[in-house]
Amino acid sequence: MWSFFETVRNRHSVRRYEPGMSVEHEKLHAILETATAAPSAGDLQAYRIFVVTDAERREQLVQFSPRHAFIAEAPVCMVFCADPQRSIATFGEQAGKMFAIQDTTIVASYAQLAAVAAGLASAWVGSFESQGIADLLEIPAAVEPISLITIGYPAELPELTPRRALTEIVDFL
Ligand SMILES: Cc1cc2nc3c(=O)[nH]c(=O)nc-3n(C[C@H](O)[C@H](O)[C@H](O)COP(=O)(O)O)c2cc1C
Repeated sequence: MWSFFETVRNRHSVRRYEPGMSVEHEKLHAILETATAAPSAGDLQAYRIFVVTDAERREQLVQFSPRHAFIAEAPVCMVFCADPQRSIATFGEQAGKMFAIQDTTIVASYAQLAAVAAGLASAWVGSFESQGIADLLEIPAAVEPISLITIGYPAELPELTPRRALTEIVDFL
């Protein structure tokens, strides 16, 4: 089993998935349980997660993100949505909206790591027509899709992409 550090290092955006290999229910459940252990502002978990496994619905999702045909090829697409009403009640309009987006991106990135730990791969899709996705999945009006995460068994091992040097990014004070 990989250490946490190895798990992080082995997460790459995978955009090709093994056809015909669905994700076991137990693994999906473990990913969701692990992801929702993420921190959230005020412990409010101001997000919703829509898990799309139905093939026809995954095909339909591509209409709203046409450059990402792999959404239909991955057996699972998790749609991570901000639910700002949950955090606005505690933190007010401005902070509540911001915290809901932060909560949502954190839970989505935990899901990506949990997928790796479960022997799966994923890709984050941030470019899509939000209203179309919301209408298709009948997502409540106050809930906003933030990211789509495709998950499945990898059919490619992408090249590692370099990262900026820490010296460019980090200041020790
Ligand atoms: C906020 C965000 C938006 C992204 N949007 C897209 C996207 O629309 N399409 C896509 O193919 N990848 C998308 N990605 C994945 C990035 O391209 C990818 O993480 C980056 O190139 C680094 O590669 P790696 O994930 O393999 O380390 C997105 C990632 C993030 C965090």
